[in-house]
Amino acid sequence: MPEPLSTESTAFRSALDVIRGVEPRVADAIGQEVEDQRASLKLIASENYASPAVLLAMGNWFSDKYAEGTIGRRFYAGCRNVDTVESLAAEHAKELFGARHAYVQPHSGIDANLVAFWAVLAARVEAPALQRAGARQVNDLSEKDWAELRRELGNQRMLGMSLDAGGHLTHGFRPNISGKMFDQRSYGTDPATGLLDYDALRATAREFKPLIIVAGYSAYPRLVNFRIMREIADEVGATLMVDMAHFAGLVAGKVLTGDFDPVPHAQIVTTTTHKSLRGPRGGMVLCDDSLVEQVDRGCPMVLGGPLPHVMAAKAVALAEARQPSFQDYAQRIVDNSRALADGLMRRGATLVTGGTDNHLNLIDVATSYGLTGRQAESALLDSGVVTNRNAIPQDPNGAWYTSGIRIGTPALTTRGLGTGEMDEIAALIDRVLTSAEAGTTSKGAPSKAQHVLDEKVADEVSRRAAELLDGFPLYPGIDLS
Ligand SMILES: Cc1ncc(COP(=O)(O)O)c(C=O)c1O
Repeated sequence: MPEPLSTESTAFRSALDVIRGVEPRVADAIGQEVEDQRASLKLIASENYASPAVLLAMGNWFSDKYAEGTIGRRFYAGCRNVDTVESLAAEHAKELFGARHAYVQPHSGIDANLVAFWAVLAARVEAPALQRAGARQVNDLSEKDWAELRRELGNQRMLGMSLDAGGHLTHGFRPNISGKMFDQRSYGTDPATGLLDYDALRATAREFKPLIIVAGYSAYPRLVNFRIMREIADEVGATLMVDMAHFAGLVAGKVLTGDFDPVPHAQIVTTTTHKSLRGPRGGMVLCDDSLVEQVDRGCPMVLGGPLPHVMAAKAVALAEARQPSFQDYAQRIVDNSRALADGLMRRGATLVTGGTDNHLNLIDVATSYGLTGRQAESALLDSGVVTNRNAIPQDPNGAWYTSGIRIGTPALTTRGLGTGEMDEIAALIDRVLTSAEAGTTSKGAPSKAQHVLDEKVADEVSRRAAELLDGFPLYPGIDLS
């Protein structure tokens, strides 16, 4: 007798059948996506695998509902069920992170950061201007006062971590809207150690006097001391904002505590919900009492209608993150990351900062293997290992070709791989990168993009990577065949 289908298999099969009835190519692409994800050794530090409950919470009638406003105060009628899921998500977030307030509407990390920037601008620039003019709200200002306020809003300063030290584009860099809004200056890392240089940061803050200091990163493999960051912010009259998009799962899982937990130290904390936190694709803002009113004005200040189906999935993911097993998961992410670092360094690789304290490592592939990040990324991809290239501090190859490969462990840890497997993955990475060589352009000139890799090495590593993954099936309870 065939085994009965699991509830999850039935749910996803039925959903795909319904979709196939309308546009079979979409159903096929969804099916192919899960197959591709099952087959790839994913070391992308910002990706993960959401649970079936999180995925299913997104595919339903909440998608149809407009709910601009906040819980209990909407611009649209009929929002009681949205109120329920938004309240649940916010309550779970508050409990999980020990935050005074949580705003779960942002659609993504960049939206969460925009809400945070404008909340601070509203509190620290707009509110005093309204008071000076004796106005209750912006619509009450004269044309002259409004023009003056707009000039003031557009003339504020932000201090953020430099991109090559691991900061993010949304922290005030020119290609992003944050760089067009703020006069930005960066802080970086000590060239000798690769570690954040708090003394230099303090000196820059004293001189530059920013309105906002942004902490947080997407490619820094070490801890950040948020107590010191807050001290510096207080000293210069800045608001401390922490973007914990990458490491929210480690905060939720109580791996980052005390000085390294941003929530008790920063006035405002933003995050994505889909990276180490393992929820749906989305964003969130946490804040202390001083910014609640302004953060809750995220819609209509920055956002339009929230995505209630995604807020439902956030509530499910946050409930999952409150389970004791999530703390075990978060610890295993870091154990795996350290095992990967040890395995790589034992084989001679140079890591930025000489190791890791979190979920990611940054391999200096130029020093270690004479490759650009672009060449290393492609050689690894040919061998079934999915990573991404990343700049390293003072990168000689610039932000496009780069000299670094960023590798993270949240996704493989979700699959159940442990420290033994990480050592083997370090061996596979080292094997590919010692075998790969820089290639040439079609005209025979040296190329920073092309690489040469013996096909036998690529095949051998791909085969071993596939064998490793076979031992740790992704979504073992879901059979779509
Ligand atoms: C630190 C940080 N902030 C913000 C973002 C932006 O998140 P999203 O892609 O959801 O807009 C990212 C994404 O890479 C990030 O790493």
